[in-house]
Amino acid sequence: MAPPRLLVNIVMAAVTIGVSVTQSDSMSFGVPRRQARLFSGFDILQFEHTPCKYDSRRNGTCMQGAECTAAGGDFNTTNTCNFIQGQTFGVCCLVSRSCGGVIQTNNSYFVNPEFPDFTVNSQSCDVTVIPKRGTCYVRLQFDNFTIHDPVEGSCVADQFFVPQAEIEAPMLCGRNNDTHMYLYVKDFGEKQNITLRFNLGEWNGDRKWQINVAFIECNKDWTPGDRSCMQYFMERTDTIRSFNYHQHDPEKSAMLAGLDYTVCVRQALRRCYISWTSEFFSLSAGNKTTEVGGTCNQNYVIINQGFDSKKRVSFDRYCGQVLGANNNSSKASAVLSSARPYHLRVRTSTNSTSLGKGFLMRYSQLQCLNKWVITHHD
Ligand SMILES: *[C@@H]1O[C@H](CO)[C@@H](O)[C@H](O)[C@H]1NC(C)=O
Ligand SMILES: *[C@@H]1O[C@H](CO)[C@@H](O)[C@H](O)[C@H]1NC(C)=O
Ligand SMILES: *[C@@H]1O[C@H](CO)[C@@H](O)[C@H](O)[C@H]1NC(C)=O
Ligand SMILES: *[C@@H]1O[C@H](CO)[C@@H](O)[C@H](O)[C@H]1NC(C)=O
Ligand SMILES: *[C@@H]1O[C@H](CO)[C@@H](O)[C@H](O)[C@H]1NC(C)=O
Ligand SMILES: *[C@@H]1O[C@H](CO)[C@@H](O)[C@H](O)[C@H]1NC(C)=O
Ligand SMILES: *[C@@H]1O[C@H](CO)[C@@H](O)[C@H](O)[C@H]1NC(C)=O
Ligand SMILES: *[C@@H]1O[C@H](CO)[C@@H](O)[C@H](O)[C@H]1NC(C)=O
Ligand SMILES: *[C@@H]1O[C@H](CO)[C@@H](O)[C@H](O)[C@H]1NC(C)=O
Ligand SMILES: *[C@@H]1O[C@H](CO)[C@@H](O)[C@H](O)[C@H]1NC(C)=O
Repeated sequence: MAPPRLLVNIVMAAVTIGVSVTQSDSMSFGVPRRQARLFSGFDILQFEHTPCKYDSRRNGTCMQGAECTAAGGDFNTTNTCNFIQGQTFGVCCLVSRSCGGVIQTNNSYFVNPEFPDFTVNSQSCDVTVIPKRGTCYVRLQFDNFTIHDPVEGSCVADQFFVPQAEIEAPMLCGRNNDTHMYLYVKDFGEKQNITLRFNLGEWNGDRKWQINVAFIECNKDWTPGDRSCMQYFMERTDTIRSFNYHQHDPEKSAMLAGLDYTVCVRQALRRCYISWTSEFFSLSAGNKTTEVGGTCNQNYVIINQGFDSKKRVSFDRYCGQVLGANNNSSKASAVLSSARPYHLRVRTSTNSTSLGKGFLMRYSQLQCLNKWVITHHD
């Protein structure tokens, strides 16, 4: 899976240090990137710190054993990466930090103090993240995230947030397994640290978290195209859930108040349209019907110039208890859009009444169709 250029580098490195190369890198997807240097008879191979598979649930970073130890990480000597001539140059290093910890290694984890057990005590728990130079976004992938649910849309008992006001990130609570958040940090200043904070309130309930912290460089294929992107999806088709969406019992989900964020979808090759459907949809209380356009003025999603393939009338805003392209319908229907970039904006009111429960929406990118004639409304 390594691009040809990297393989050329390995071969060149091998020539420099005078060995032949077999790439038998089954455990990891890391390959040596920099060329070997010759130091008075010693061969030193330096690594780009590439991600590797630590175990079935976690990725780590490939580095030398001593480096991993210095970074305060763990490794399993049998889980190696970056092989050359049967010799192992790296181990897959897992860095896990809890309250008071500092994260400066890519793909580190922020976990609750008792992880994998629950934390029950009230406390404040911070980690400090020091992004690598050249980082555009710090990506937080919530593998496990269960704290107290919001009450009327507000995180009153437990809170997760980024205290630095310069970094845009909503306060979260409730259940957020399997969601993520990109923090745009490029303009924040290279020498500044970012704090990730859990405030656990005065109740003795079960809380647990495991958050993968990754440094995403600028101008890569996997960098969100737009600094407004708080979530970023790269597949041709995928599902998007709202924060505090209860996977096992969606009816128990509850929307957070005061949200305004953008979900971005990377345009796939030779696809011109995006189609949005829902598996679960509840934005604002009301009848079991769709609501569109100006009717949605409190809690809604924005699909720019969304339209129905038959009616050829378009709207931007969608809310109600059913997602559909037409107003006041009890039938769900796909909302299509060709407005690029593909964005879904999520907005909720600070008025806690009728926030709705949230959504699980699916998008899929469609092949180019004929031109539609569409009359646009807000
Ligand atoms: C590890 O990284 C690979 C490649 O980026 C990705 O496909 C996989 O989902 C990751 N696994 C975990 C557990 O994060
Ligand atoms: C190290 O990895 C091997 C193979 O994946 C596994 O069998 C072993 O249990 C691991 N050891 C530890 C201490 O995790
Ligand atoms: C964390 O979440 C993953 C995916 O939801 C799950 O497979 C895993 O068991 C969880 N880990 C713990 C320690 O709860
Ligand atoms: C960032 O964190 C490091 C380690 O905790 C500390 O030495 C440094 O002073 C911090 N820098 C800033 C700007 O807060
Ligand atoms: C950090 O790891 C992610 C994968 O989890 C990768 O996409 C990214 O390029 C890495 N960042 C750096 C600076 O190597
Ligand atoms: C989230 O993960 C935790 C830990 O694995 C689990 O106890 C909980 O049921 C999960 N929640 C959801 C909504 O999947
Ligand atoms: C629900 O439907 C009834 C009857 O059509 C209507 O009078 C009422 O305004 C609707 N409520 C909402 C919130 O749309
Ligand atoms: C909305 O739909 C319901 C059921 O089809 C209908 O009774 C009602 O009159 C419609 N409301 C408006 C304002 O069109
Ligand atoms: C949508 O239907 C509702 C009745 O359910 C009506 O009050 C509203 O004006 C309609 N909105 C648009 C944009 O047609
Ligand atoms: C909050 O929303 C409810 C129902 O939509 C409305 O009756 C009430 O006036 C709103 N309150 C404020 C302060 O806007």
